[in-house]
Amino acid sequence: MSKVFVTHSLPGERLQVLAQRCELSVWEQPGLLSPSGLRQHLTGCEGLVCLLTDRVDRALLEDMPQLRFVSSMSVGVDHLDIAALTERGIPVGHTPGVLVDTTADTAFALLLAAARRVAEADRFVRHGQWRDDKAWSPDFFVGKDVSGATLGIIGLGAIGQAVARRAAGFGMRVLAWNRSAIQVPGVEQVSLEELLPRSDFVSVNVALSNDTRMLLDADRIATMKPGAVLVNTARGGIVDEQALADALDNGLIYAAGIDVFEREPLAMDNPLLRHPRVVLAPHIGSATIDTRRRMADMAVDNALAALAGEPMPHCANPAVYS
Ligand code: GLV
Repeated sequence: MSKVFVTHSLPGERLQVLAQRCELSVWEQPGLLSPSGLRQHLTGCEGLVCLLTDRVDRALLEDMPQLRFVSSMSVGVDHLDIAALTERGIPVGHTPGVLVDTTADTAFALLLAAARRVAEADRFVRHGQWRDDKAWSPDFFVGKDVSGATLGIIGLGAIGQAVARRAAGFGMRVLAWNRSAIQVPGVEQVSLEELLPRSDFVSVNVALSNDTRMLLDADRIATMKPGAVLVNTARGGIVDEQALADALDNGLIYAAGIDVFEREPLAMDNPLLRHPRVVLAPHIGSATIDTRRRMADMAVDNALAALAGEPMPHCANPAVYS
């Protein structure tokens, strides 16, 4: 029987089906599995079911000659060396589609919270600062209007399009930049150079790749509309965090809503932590009970297909099948 390693217990019951088709071992400890733990447990396995917190690089692959498939419970696959896996003919499963609306909801939650200073206001009330000497006044916790503002979406894939639908409901004008042209009703497609200075809000919804790493670097951030709000629910490496913190410091950027970071968990010296107008979340874009269950089911279904010698239903590197 094939040996398959799962790097975390998964929501739902589908893992039990997988357990009937292979010799399954599941890392059940709390917290992150270390790279050495992954190496140790993966040795001798033909299959890996992993999370976005597990890195599979070329060096690890070289020591796993028996590995035949990888299935990640994530839509993003930037934690996996896709080029090296494809060279080896190893299919990589992922979970597109099911987290689209949930992640777009998170983007909008952060956008609204950043615009209207919700996290800052919550801390103010919670810490007993709302007193007679600091009470309601005309400029008390004033923020920025979302309705009627212009939203620029970077990356008009499924999640970017779902963010655009939400923006339309809020009466926003929607611009988008995408590497390839996609016609989406109500969305004006523009270059990144045009999007940044025109947008009151910018939502990052593009996948992290060599092309998009540090896409929003200091130079591009400097071209953003003064007083803009930046929201990132895609991946940390796309935005230069120090440049964003500097732009918040000098007042160019009004606020930010950030769910994803270059290094996760967030280091306590991250410059974004010191800004009251940055709403922070710990990579919870797809975190609803139903969505996480659907993602787990898809990850297991991809593994089941690979075990049966069939193409994975959701494969991030379909070139392995041609
Ligand atoms: C979440 O970030 C995912 O890639 O699924």
